[in-house]
Amino acid sequence: MQISVHPVAPEQRRPRPADDQLVFGRIFSDHMFRMDYQEGAWQNPRVIPYGPLELDPAAMVLHYGQGIFEGLKAYRCADGRIHLFRPLKNMERFNRSVRRMCMPEVDAQLHLEAIEALVRLDVEWIPRSVGASLYIRPTMIASEPHLGVRPAAEYIHYIITGPVGAYYPEGFNPIKIYVSDQYVRAVRGGVGEAKTMANYAASLFAAELAKKKGYTQVLWLDAVERRYVEEVGTMNIFFRLKDELVTPPLSGSILPGVTRESVIDLAKHWGIAVNERPVTIDEVIDGIASGDLKEIFGTGTAAVISPVGEVFYKEKSYVVQDGSVGEWSRRFYDEIVGIQYGEKEDPFGWIHQV
Ligand code: COI
Repeated sequence: MQISVHPVAPEQRRPRPADDQLVFGRIFSDHMFRMDYQEGAWQNPRVIPYGPLELDPAAMVLHYGQGIFEGLKAYRCADGRIHLFRPLKNMERFNRSVRRMCMPEVDAQLHLEAIEALVRLDVEWIPRSVGASLYIRPTMIASEPHLGVRPAAEYIHYIITGPVGAYYPEGFNPIKIYVSDQYVRAVRGGVGEAKTMANYAASLFAAELAKKKGYTQVLWLDAVERRYVEEVGTMNIFFRLKDELVTPPLSGSILPGVTRESVIDLAKHWGIAVNERPVTIDEVIDGIASGDLKEIFGTGTAAVISPVGEVFYKEKSYVVQDGSVGEWSRRFYDEIVGIQYGEKEDPFGWIHQV
């Protein structure tokens, strides 16, 4: 299928804010991609001016939450090259989420071409500085107007982009996380491993409680025993226990993060022992107390690598080491960001140049 391109008139292009004014997810570029699923097929893939979607009030996504999304970024290198980081991983995960939510798959190549077309047209929207990037948000929603509960027959796949800075106001400084032992995010066999909207809606209540207590994010425990660490609201979680890197396994209720996989690959490449195994919250708390737990950090596309300096659990707060950025967190951050911005070798072939 050929993507048609309908650019805005030059005088309607909006200015991009300065890199140091950027926050996460508030400003959007001039164009978006859209195609529609009707009568059993995707139709009319097109790049159009950014603007509102018209939806019937009975559109099924608005009632039953049949919708999914992805997140990836375009990076501008010092020499002007534009990089995407492992984009096909996102396209694959998009289709896994699609299947779990009974939606129609999107051809990965067409999806990538759509992103490339958008990035090329809005190249001026890509920030200049390291740490800032163009966030890309592919989304699919059920648009059929119908109130019976079943998979919809009509969908919209759209992609929006926008320049972003650091996800957390803390930047690369350590964040504080709040362990939720009262509320849970996802249960095995549920939709926790799909990037579906409901998982984020389910996270809001506990996240607000955490925020009121001064914590940046919630660390979720498993929904059955509330004993095993799963993931943080918008990131996977890693622990440096003695000299081993430990992260919870992909058990069905955890999002399979692209940055998570990249950290595991890098650690193995560097000869660091990596163990994907269940981690109990008691092990984390005991490790902090004994000093065996040397670092905690989160990984995600939006957050990149985010060191954790403090953990709150059962009315007590525990500072990880001295609460500063750990050596491994820094090393993974520098390497991944270096590869993304073309400042470091890419031995794994992760970079896709636009
Ligand atoms: C991402 O890391 O890209 C995410 O999708 C997390 C989030 C901002 C919801």
